[in-house]
Amino acid sequence: EESKKIVLEEDPALPKATKTKIGSAAPHRGERVRVCGWVHRLRSQKDIIFIVLRDGTGFLQSVLSGRVAQTYDALTLTLESSVELVGVLKEVPEGKTAPGGHELVVDYWKVLGPAPGADDAFTNRLNEKSDPSILADLRHLVLRGETASSVLRLRAHLLTAFRETYISHNLLEVTPPCVVQTQVEGGATLFKFDYYGQPAFLTQSSQLYLETCLPSLGDVFCIQESFRAENSHTRRHLSEYTHMEAELAFITFDDLMTHIEAIICETVDKIVSQPGPAALLKHLNPDFKPPARPFRRMSYVDAIAWLNEHCIKHEKEDAEGNVVKDEAGNPIMVEHAVGDDIAEAAERQMTDIIGTPIFLYGFPAELKAFYMKKMPADKQEGNHVFTESCDLLMPGVGEIVGGSMRIADSEELLAAYKREGIDPEPYYWFTDQRKYGTCEHGGYGLGVERFLAWLANRYTVRECSLYPRWPGKATP
Ligand code: 4AD
Repeated sequence: EESKKIVLEEDPALPKATKTKIGSAAPHRGERVRVCGWVHRLRSQKDIIFIVLRDGTGFLQSVLSGRVAQTYDALTLTLESSVELVGVLKEVPEGKTAPGGHELVVDYWKVLGPAPGADDAFTNRLNEKSDPSILADLRHLVLRGETASSVLRLRAHLLTAFRETYISHNLLEVTPPCVVQTQVEGGATLFKFDYYGQPAFLTQSSQLYLETCLPSLGDVFCIQESFRAENSHTRRHLSEYTHMEAELAFITFDDLMTHIEAIICETVDKIVSQPGPAALLKHLNPDFKPPARPFRRMSYVDAIAWLNEHCIKHEKEDAEGNVVKDEAGNPIMVEHAVGDDIAEAAERQMTDIIGTPIFLYGFPAELKAFYMKKMPADKQEGNHVFTESCDLLMPGVGEIVGGSMRIADSEELLAAYKREGIDPEPYYWFTDQRKYGTCEHGGYGLGVERFLAWLANRYTVRECSLYPRWPGKATP
């Protein structure tokens, strides 16, 4: 009853409070500050209310006692309400800890946006035991949690670090279109739509556009969304993902792999050597150690032999690609042979056993995209044609990078379109690259969510995207 009558007013006699974000409050220690945010944690003890305030830049322990803790709003305050708190920022007494080493002793405050309590309370909608599909629908609320937000924060640092690394290697950032009329990685995974009466697709890769930049802009990179209509419900497939791609002119296949290794290692070095990003990484993946250089390189042919030596088999498939089963309905497992695709399960087992990054290189042409350059004649064996292609595999995730040298000769490219049944007409601009001063060049694409899953030791790429898309899922 009493509490309803208490109306707080800010005391005009007190020193003026400086408005600050939590992350930049430290220089205001000993002063009166005004902070806005969300009630992240809430606890009351006798007549004192402790709030951990969250504003996206950090967490601030705040103490309400006396009159400010006795208002109706104070007694009915709920988690996730938004509030404005005003008070003196004090260093925490010795022996006590708080985020930032200080706490706010509140002398005035108000609720800006209350959050419901009871059945509709935040913690009731979102509890640790919630089913993954419920959590997926509540991604917007999950993001308020410490783990989910730390992953996204690390992601932001990672993108900045990658950009800095590229700039230091003299690559220029470009922004290719997402609406395209050509395929890069096979027609089967294209999202097709009607574009003013013409067929168009969401891009699978910006590679072809990056190739066209070489003569004018030099070596280039982009960080752009790619789309794959893959009906894959695995922990490393998304329907939309952030694709970091780069293209370099006048290089050899060896240069390409060395460059990929340098970009990755220098970026990781930036993350681990800056206090903020390093602390996030430590929180998410305490056991992380930057990978040693050089990365192990293993040819596709050697990988097939390695899988067989380690008794890692794959499901037998018929001519149509259907899994062949035994009488009990179990898939029949067979040894790997040169020409076989190394499927996700086998690739994962191999990387987990070896436990370090591996460059798998020299895949057979029939398994790879139309634009890939063939290996020189002395590297070919048997009836298979091997390409200057490489995948970088990481423990726990598998493939995070796919790259190759590109066909530089226009006749050879025209033959490749034909072999793949691709109409060369929409590719005239890509073919022109070979017509007007061709050059040896190569490049690669890195899946940002897969890289982050490796770096932050996340179970699935779905945790590494702001709002992940997978088959059937496009909300929130
Ligand atoms: O191996 P991919 O298909 O290669 C290309 O698209 C090349 N055109 C890139 C280039 O040379 N510029 O894809 C490259 C990387 C993969 O290694 C993987 O990390 C990621 O993109 N990726 C996916 N990530 C999440 N979900 C998917 N469905 C992905 N498909 C590929």
